Amino acid sequence: MQPEDATSRPLPRGSAVHAAETAGRSQDARDAEFVASMAHDVNNMLTVVMGSIDQVGLQLPPTHPAFPDLSVARDAARRAAGMTKRLMLPGGQPALSAIDVNATIHNALRGLSRTLGERIAMTHELAADLWPAHTDAEELWQMLFNLATNARDAMPDGGTLRIRTRNTTLTAHCTMATRTVVAGDYVAIEVTDTGIGMSPSVQQRMFEPHFSTRAAAGRGLGMSAVARLAHDSRGGVRVRSEPGRGTAIEVLLPRAQG
Ligand SMILES: Nc1ncnc2c1ncn2[C@@H]1O[C@H](COP(=O)(O)OP(=O)(O)O)[C@@H](O)[C@H]1O
Ligand SMILES: [Mg+2]
Repeated sequence: MQPEDATSRPLPRGSAVHAAETAGRSQDARDAEFVASMAHDVNNMLTVVMGSIDQVGLQLPPTHPAFPDLSVARDAARRAAGMTKRLMLPGGQPALSAIDVNATIHNALRGLSRTLGERIAMTHELAADLWPAHTDAEELWQMLFNLATNARDAMPDGGTLRIRTRNTTLTAHCTMATRTVVAGDYVAIEVTDTGIGMSPSVQQRMFEPHFSTRAAAGRGLGMSAVARLAHDSRGGVRVRSEPGRGTAIEVLLPRAQG
């Protein structure tokens, strides 16, 4: 029998040997490893979720009224699995291509309305002549759900969420919430709510990772993710909001050329 290779055996976290082993590596490398291992475990759980959904689906006649929700659940789990795969790749890059933003929004509508709950109405106005956007469909999906979650949290007594798309051209560089966006053609996606709104001081900090006004309920990772995802496509985010008068968040994604 071969002697066991000590280096291939995982060392218990926090042990003296583990500490000595990891001391030579940067905190960033260790964080990346931790994220990858969590993503791996979450992915395993999602396999269970998808398998169980499939089992339920097999036991229902295709005309059963629960079928559409079941397929929303399966689609969401599949997308989540896709996100975890990306977390397992070091420096995972977005997959940019020409995306039909209206179609992505259409596909997300049922899942979004489940996120919002019954007290929030949802409307959409999607421009018929919308340009294709140079973006990553999965990342766009993540942005929509982050924005809808925040809108829901801002409307505890109910309200309306509106999703609008339009073409827009910036004739000059434009300073947006967290970066400057260059002049050019953009596809704009605006998510508006009738919720509690934000003071100027909250608007100034809302994109900071871990900034939250929602005490223990908030993680403060939604808006920093939206900004990061928009930047991945070389787009930007802008915000209009007033306390008590709702919020409009507009994501600009570059028009796909060609
Ligand atoms: N639609 C919105 N209406 C009101 N406030 C918002 C909205 N979206 C974001 N915010 C503010 O920005 C903060 C940061 O949002 P986010 O990063 O998603 O963190 P979290 O939702 O966990 O608090 C929120 O705590 C809230 O103060
Ligand atoms: Mg949030």
